[in-house]
Formats: sequence, C-alpha cells, structure tokens
Amino acid sequence: MLVVGAGIMGVGIAQVAAQAGHTVLLFDARDGAAEQAREKLAKTFEGLVAKGKLSADDAAQTLSRIEPIASLDAAAGVRLVVEAIVEKLDAKRGLFQQLEAIIATDCVLASNTSSISVTAIANGLQHPQRLVGMHFFNPVPLMKLVEVVSGLQTAAAVAAAIFDLSKDWGKVPVSARSTPGFIVNRIARPYYAEALALLQEQAAAPAVLDACLRAAGFRMGPCELMDLIGHDTNFSVTQSVFEANFYDKRYVPSLVQRELVDGGLLGRKSGRGFYDYAEGVSAPEL
Ligand code: NAI
Repeated sequence: MLVVGAGIMGVGIAQVAAQAGHTVLLFDARDGAAEQAREKLAKTFEGLVAKGKLSADDAAQTLSRIEPIASLDAAAGVRLVVEAIVEKLDAKRGLFQQLEAIIATDCVLASNTSSISVTAIANGLQHPQRLVGMHFFNPVPLMKLVEVVSGLQTAAAVAAAIFDLSKDWGKVPVSARSTPGFIVNRIARPYYAEALALLQEQAAAPAVLDACLRAAGFRMGPCELMDLIGHDTNFSVTQSVFEANFYDKRYVPSLVQRELVDGGLLGRKSGRGFYDYAEGVSAPEL
C-alpha cells in the first residue's frame, strides 16, 4: 500500500499499517520528508524498546516494511492508497487525479481528511466510486476510532472493505456520511471555538483553560489539544466546516488561531504554538 503525506498523521498511519504486516510505501511532496519521518519513527521505536514496551525484533520488522519513495511512479502496483496531505480540497483532488494515471483501476483510494467533503474530493476522478474517507485520530497508534466516510458516489463494497481493514488494524471503525466535519470534528468544533473566543476576550491564559478542562475530567485541555493537532490543520478544518455550512456564524474561524498560523506557530510540529516546546513548557495541573 501507499501512504501519501509523511506528516503527523501519515507517519502514524504508516506505522499502524506496517505493524499489521503491510508493506508501506511512503511519499511526501517535500524532499526528504518521508526519509526523515522514518528516521523519527526509528528513534521513537528505540525509546519504546529501551522501556521494554516493544521488542527489538518487532521494531526492526515494522521499520523494514516502511519504504520511503521519491516519486509516485514507484507506487504503480499498490492496491490501497491512504492520503494524509494538507487539508485543502484542491490539493487532495489534484493528488488523486494524478494517482489515477499511475495506479490500477481496482486500487482503493482512502482520504484521511478530517472535514472536507468526500463527494467533492471524488469529483473529477475517472472512478469516483473507489474513493472513501478513512479518518484516523491523533496520535494514530493510540487512538482507536476510525470514521469510514462515504460520499455520494462511494461504492458500498469499498466502504465495507475499509471498515474491515480498520478492524484488522486493531481500530474501532464507525460508518459516517460525508457531512461537514463528519461526526467527531462536527461535535468538537464548539470546544475549540469557545476556547479561542475566551482567549480573544483575554478571559484567561491558555494554561488556565487547559488546567480547568483537565480538572473537569477531559484528558487534554483545548489549547494543548490544538497544539497537538497543528493550528494550520485545525484552522483549515474550521474554515471548511464554516464554508460547507454556508458561513453559519457558529463556525466562524478564530482571529487568534489565524494569527498563530500566519506566524508559523503551528504547535508541537513547529516547536511552538500556545506553548513553547523547545522550552519544555506545557499545561500545568490545577
Ligand atoms: P502535517 O502538516 O503534519 O503533514 C502533511 C504532510 O503532507 C506534510 O509533510 C506535507 O509536506 C505533505 N504534503 C502536502 N501536500 C502534499 C502533496 N500534494 N503531495 C504529497 N505530500 C504533500 O498534517 P497532518 O496533521 O498529518 O494532516 C494530514 C491530513 O490528516 C489532513 O487532511 C488533516 O485534516 C488530517 N487529520 C489530521 C489530524 C491531526 O490531528 N493533525 C487528525 C485527523 C486527520
């Protein structure tokens, strides 16, 4: 199989698929990104082996199944593609159209989009019925849920195959229709939006919001969660849900978050978001 996009999600998906026994080709548009992602995974595995949480043998076997590739042409023979590139409709559409010229007609195309219409991504494909949403959650190796998202043209057999595959990978799949934000991101939008509104009103600092929500029983507060997700991705998801709901005021994207994105303060992945990860600062407990 092929994973496209070697960022936060693509690497996690590659890891889970390789642990399930698949040979995974990994491609990223940024030169060297796929190799770097594999090296980072090797370091993570070293840590897990040292802690006795993973056997050295399993680590070596999983890594040996992940093969960075420099061109999509090297993926002509794959039967499944999982796309985890930037959360932009045009980029995803363009990628799948490019892939259709390379792969076989029976290769299944899955998108890890968190909010974009699967129906819209499929528009323009020669075989739109083979495209389905396969929405993992972050961090992929730990989070069990997978939303299997069907667009208007998705074949029932394709959705069923991805549902079964998710189970084989130790996940808990749920079937969803391609509505804006699907299930979890639709429900979670107000959580982020209200936190960002409080920050804009200067009601409290991010660390205070996070500490409060943790103390209320949430595993993570909203600010540290947005730092984990990546502000660029979180902002794009809100934008996409906002536009898809005809600019409903409930989903207006946040100025506070846009400023973080504009400043390249994307969260953990860039080293700084609400918190400065280089300094090792994170949310305190109350
Ligand atoms: P990321 O920013 O960590 O990684 C995206 C990667 O895609 C980058 O390495 C970039 O170089 C590469 N890329 C961009 N355009 C490309 C193209 N045309 N061809 C090949 N590679 C390309 O983003 P992340 O967080 O991994 O998100 C990827 C997808 O997963 C998005 O659709 C996002 O909505 C979705 N997602 C993200 C979650 C999160 O918590 N970050 C959770 C669930 C889904």
